[in-house]
Amino acid sequence: MTRFTVNGNPVQYELAPDTPLLWALRDASNLTGTKYGCGAGLCGACTVLVDGAPVRSCLTPIADLEGTFVTTIEGLSEDRSHPVQQAWIELQVPQCGYCQSGMIMAAAALLRTNPRPGRADIEAAITNICRCGTTARVEAAILRAADIMARNRARRG
Ligand code: FES
Ligand code: FES
Repeated sequence: MTRFTVNGNPVQYELAPDTPLLWALRDASNLTGTKYGCGAGLCGACTVLVDGAPVRSCLTPIADLEGTFVTTIEGLSEDRSHPVQQAWIELQVPQCGYCQSGMIMAAAALLRTNPRPGRADIEAAITNICRCGTTARVEAAILRAADIMARNRARRG
């Protein structure tokens, strides 16, 4: 049995220890916002946060997660109010949408450690692939999310 926390809720999975986190989330927890793309760590469609850092859930065995805190797209905010979600909506980033939850989670992780990323930082951090070609809008939305976060910080004083 493997125990950790998903979106603030304790979970325990009676699955083989080498079960990829992606399938525990999708099949056992019905958190289907995290997508399967390549299954090989390349595309980033399956990106979730583990203790705040982005991981490819298709390659992460649940045995490695004992005691960690996992966040999926469903847990990023309760009401789409995370600055990344606000920016994504404002700039209408998605096309087909398949890659987008992974993109958003990778963007949220970047802004957590670098609240004012430049374009080079974004290109280095966001290795996710979008077959629809939304990459330019993704980059613009991350810069916009950084502005929203800065404005929120200024309001809080
Ligand atoms: S499905 Fe995990 S990186 Fe592509
Ligand atoms: S929006 Fe279609 S794959 Fe990215």
